[in-house]
Amino acid sequence: MTSTFPRHIAVIMDGNGRWAKKRHLPRVAGHKAGVDAVREIVKACAEKKIEVLTLFAFSSENWQRPTQEVNYLMELFITALKQEVKKLHKQNIQLRIVGDRDRFERKLREQIDKAEKLTANNTGLKLIIAANYGGRWDIVEAMRNLAVEVEQGKLKSHEISPALIQEKLSLADLPEPDLFIRTSGEQRISNFLLWQLAYSELYFTDMLWPDFNAAELDKALAFFANRERRFGCTSEQLQEQHA
Ligand code: IPE
Ligand code: IPE
Ligand code: MG
Repeated sequence: MTSTFPRHIAVIMDGNGRWAKKRHLPRVAGHKAGVDAVREIVKACAEKKIEVLTLFAFSSENWQRPTQEVNYLMELFITALKQEVKKLHKQNIQLRIVGDRDRFERKLREQIDKAEKLTANNTGLKLIIAANYGGRWDIVEAMRNLAVEVEQGKLKSHEISPALIQEKLSLADLPEPDLFIRTSGEQRISNFLLWQLAYSELYFTDMLWPDFNAAELDKALAFFANRERRFGCTSEQLQEQHA
């Protein structure tokens, strides 16, 4: 049955650099302004009782950016965690980070662990930050885990199924994203959740991420409410199910 309200929203927060450029500011000023938009969207999603919000903050390919920008983003991540976690906790929000943490410096890994531990038992919005995340990395990790089970004789190769692969991926315990949002006019996935987005509704807006706000989120939600999600069935079949 299709619902008019998404349980899980996944967002590629794009356009920080262009937002800054338009104002003749350094790119990093755009990232800083982007944090304010994150705060507003998290609050709006929590108020709307969205179950899961996944935000793409740093991709596995973003390391290729100028060192100065990468360093700034890492520092921003640490400060944002320090400053925001208590507020998130007060809002009953559960925070999780997905992605490969091994490349982060110790200080950041410690902040992440602390934030996750503090909010682990919260029952409100699940806020997932994808950092050093890549959809391909996620699938490779899942495959490696399954391969180990095959090597150990716990699993036969013919038993590998979509459900088993899904179980090994990031976000395995959560509903798949119903609504995908990308800001800044780009219409691509950029190695975000490749497997998990298989049946998501895709919403693109020209708005740059630092300008995205609760009213813009409402537009995306209105778009979503007008979609008919068929999951391979016919429209008639769906109407019969609703009757
Ligand atoms: C998204 O904004 C933030 C990150 C990728 C970290 P960009 O930095 O990609 O902004 P544009 O695309 O250059 O405008
Ligand atoms: C995707 O944006 C990653 C994040 C928003 C974190 P990019 O700006 O890195 O994507 P491309 O390079 O334009 O595809
Ligand atoms: Mg970009």
